[in-house]
Amino acid sequence: MTEVSGKAAVVTGGGSGIGMGLAKELARVGVSVAIADILLDNARTVADEINAAGGTAVAIHCDVCERSSIEEMKAEANAAFGTIELVFANAGATSFASAAELTTSELDWMVAVNQGGVIWTALTFLPDMVEAGGGHIVATASMAGLIPSLVPVHTAYSAAKLGVIGFIQNLQLEVAEHGVVTTIYCPGGVLNGMRDNNSRYRPQRFGGPSDEQMRAPKASFKDNRLRFMTPDEVAPIVLRAVRDDRPFVFDHAEQRADFRRLYADVVESCFDDIERWEQEH
Ligand SMILES: NC(=O)c1ccc[n+]([C@@H]2O[C@H](COP(=O)([O-])OP(=O)(O)OC[C@H]3O[C@@H](n4cnc5c(N)ncnc54)[C@H](O)[C@@H]3O)[C@@H](O)[C@H]2O)c1
Repeated sequence: MTEVSGKAAVVTGGGSGIGMGLAKELARVGVSVAIADILLDNARTVADEINAAGGTAVAIHCDVCERSSIEEMKAEANAAFGTIELVFANAGATSFASAAELTTSELDWMVAVNQGGVIWTALTFLPDMVEAGGGHIVATASMAGLIPSLVPVHTAYSAAKLGVIGFIQNLQLEVAEHGVVTTIYCPGGVLNGMRDNNSRYRPQRFGGPSDEQMRAPKASFKDNRLRFMTPDEVAPIVLRAVRDDRPFVFDHAEQRADFRRLYADVVESCFDDIERWEQEH
């Protein structure tokens, strides 16, 4: 059981969308929040809103694609709030480039922000948690990682997000004895800033920001009936999972069927094959 009230948190990508919703909900329940984002103005707007409402927040610039930037962000967060007990490694970006059009810099960016960013954020704050004898790391992955067949035209993103799931699940084995808990959050469709313009936060070394809109091709939405949740709706769901020390948290009940189908298919077809082979030999 992780009690969150009265603690200090970092939320990467807290200037928009899910991160913004998490930051506001954390502040509402009495958590001091460091909002880290590559777009500092957005982080400042969220922090100002929280402080004006009586909460406690600071805005910090951070590019999670650079380990040194995460370390600088941690130093600022520690200066503001001391030891950080709750880390929401949430910053991410998407790409709807088809596999045939995928460039080296696009793939590198997807992996750096969605996978490296989450991993290095977790590892940068972990030693303090181990020393303190506890802490909670929430890694935002995606249903597109857990069920890679869910969203077509999403190869690089799905690969990066699936990698996060593997990393965090394995990390849990190492950190349990130190009282550190991990939760993997797999959003399944939440209204966000990516829809306006994802490319505006592409770091310089991957081609830099641009005004280009990265709209998802129609084919990307297999299920057109999907109701996109709002950040305000999903934040309390995630915090409840954190309090309950859940290893995973999802936000769309209707994805249960896709999840079951994928894993049931694997179990039924693949294990059947090997069992048949074993019986024959
Ligand atoms: N919204 C969804 O439906 C959905 C689905 C699955 C997964 N996710 C994941 O949820 C997380 C939050 O995304 P969102 O939907 O709120 O989108 P969003 O675009 O509203 O928020 C992403 C935030 O991350 C920040 N960011 C991007 N690159 C960064 C970098 N290099 N360093 C620091 N900050 C950076 C952006 O400035 C932005 O504030 C992401 O990891 C995303 O992949 C979202």
